[in-house]
Amino acid sequence: MRLDKYLAQSGIGTRSQVKEYIRAGQVQVNGIREKHADRKIHAETDDIVYREKSVTFRERVYYMLNKPSGCVSATQDERYMTVLDLLGKDRRKDLFPVGRLDRDTEGLLLLTNDGALAHRLLSPRNHVPKTYQALLARDLTSGQIDLLENGVDIGEEKLTLPSVFTWKDRQKKEAFLTITEGKFHQVKRMFEAVGNQVLSLKRLSMGSLVLDESLSPGEYRPLYEKELEELLD
Ligand code: URA
Repeated sequence: MRLDKYLAQSGIGTRSQVKEYIRAGQVQVNGIREKHADRKIHAETDDIVYREKSVTFRERVYYMLNKPSGCVSATQDERYMTVLDLLGKDRRKDLFPVGRLDRDTEGLLLLTNDGALAHRLLSPRNHVPKTYQALLARDLTSGQIDLLENGVDIGEEKLTLPSVFTWKDRQKKEAFLTITEGKFHQVKRMFEAVGNQVLSLKRLSMGSLVLDESLSPGEYRPLYEKELEELLD
């Protein structure tokens, strides 16, 4: 396997990041600094060291993606680009997105191959909070905000669970909504239920994980150790 691919698949960084690390002399193969990203290595027998630490092939990997509008939260699709296509063709083949954002929704999406974590984050029983930033078509009355926060009828069996609404900028009709469920198009349907419309939507957080605003739409990075610890906690 190529050295850059091995490092990327071990969760050290994206393919372009690990190429930088190699160029910068931060990677050693069997005790010798290696500056060629295309160096062929044997994952089982070669000793790969990054910044003085031995790199073991990680079974589980976790990436934070700032999903751009226009691609679908699926592993494959016949019509549209998928969120996994953004990771390039050398990505690990067992990755999947944790949950779905609509094609036109941007923001935080976790990509992993850890099925147990995905299950925990998505299970309706766990009520994992997710915060969205929405651009609305109209202002809201305090009565409509009360309805949003206490439960609205979006055509499901039950009203939505309590949520938290705050204005980001009322003049610009930008708002935050934190929900603890994940029904299909839930945020859009909640605002529609109170006579409004979501013009654009971005997810800012999921559980303890917060979107890294330094990631432009379409960019991703491995989770930091601390983010992962908190998420697995
Ligand atoms: N709610 C929506 O309406 N759309 C999303 O993409 C996520 C939550």
